Amino acid sequence: MELLDGKKISNQIKDEIAIEVAKMKERGEKVPHLAAVIVGNDGASLTYVGSKVKSCERVGFESTLIQLPATTSEVELLNKIEELNDNDDIDGFIVQLPLPPQIDTQKVLLTVNPDKDVDGFHPMNFGKMALDMSTFIPATPFGILELLERYNVETQGKHTVVIGRSHIVGRPMSILMGRKGWPGNSTVTLTHSRTKNITQIISQADIIISALGIPNFLKAEMVKDDAVVIDVGITRVPDETKKRGYYLAGDVDFENVSKKASFITPVPGGVGPMTIAMLLKNTLLARERHKENR
Ligand code: GUN
Repeated sequence: MELLDGKKISNQIKDEIAIEVAKMKERGEKVPHLAAVIVGNDGASLTYVGSKVKSCERVGFESTLIQLPATTSEVELLNKIEELNDNDDIDGFIVQLPLPPQIDTQKVLLTVNPDKDVDGFHPMNFGKMALDMSTFIPATPFGILELLERYNVETQGKHTVVIGRSHIVGRPMSILMGRKGWPGNSTVTLTHSRTKNITQIISQADIIISALGIPNFLKAEMVKDDAVVIDVGITRVPDETKKRGYYLAGDVDFENVSKKASFITPVPGGVGPMTIAMLLKNTLLARERHKENR
């Protein structure tokens, strides 16, 4: 078994980006500027956004964190997004999901200028991704592709089973793994809560990408020998013995599944840090495109 070490690879990617930023500075150019909007006080979302902003500092980007109260109205949020669209200093921005119930997420995603949509969630960018056109690929799926590539994992002709059809991970992942090229050229099955015989389907997978959010869902008995296992789950499980009051659990019973898998991601330290690295990569791309379009 080989560990797909997202922490290590994400640090390599951040180092590569930092070198690019240093060159920009040497040339007297403006450095990339990422803004992140968060609405409300969800602990996990605050942690994720905090890490995204901190990573900007690490690579030399500028960053802006916009924290809005949980009571923010849809109009107020849309106005903030328009402000970011119009602010020429900002190269890219994200609106952290999920949003409070009074806000229509689809309206929000449609309001983000596709050129600044470093999450790749705008329908125009999502459509371009599905059509193999150059665009921003959503950071988590992009991070998984990058891990597969850097560890030289064969995907061509393999049966990839994606578990979960969220717009952020499962759905784009299923499209990307079936695209022409590498990583890709896979035969993809997208499974979800209504899938019949899910255990049987998973047992036929060469590559399993689990984005379900149910701790310990994937057991060793469900996994074929030498399968590649990517665990996107990251659930906070209450635990009073921990200082933070919880521990982080993936979807995969790592202890037992790792004995059968050929490659496997740990939680934490697998897909999570890759998401942040790829968001930075998208922001660098946004800056380069922004510069060209002036
Ligand atoms: N919520 C969970 N993952 C993500 C992500 O990649 N981007 C945003 N904006 N929100 C998220």
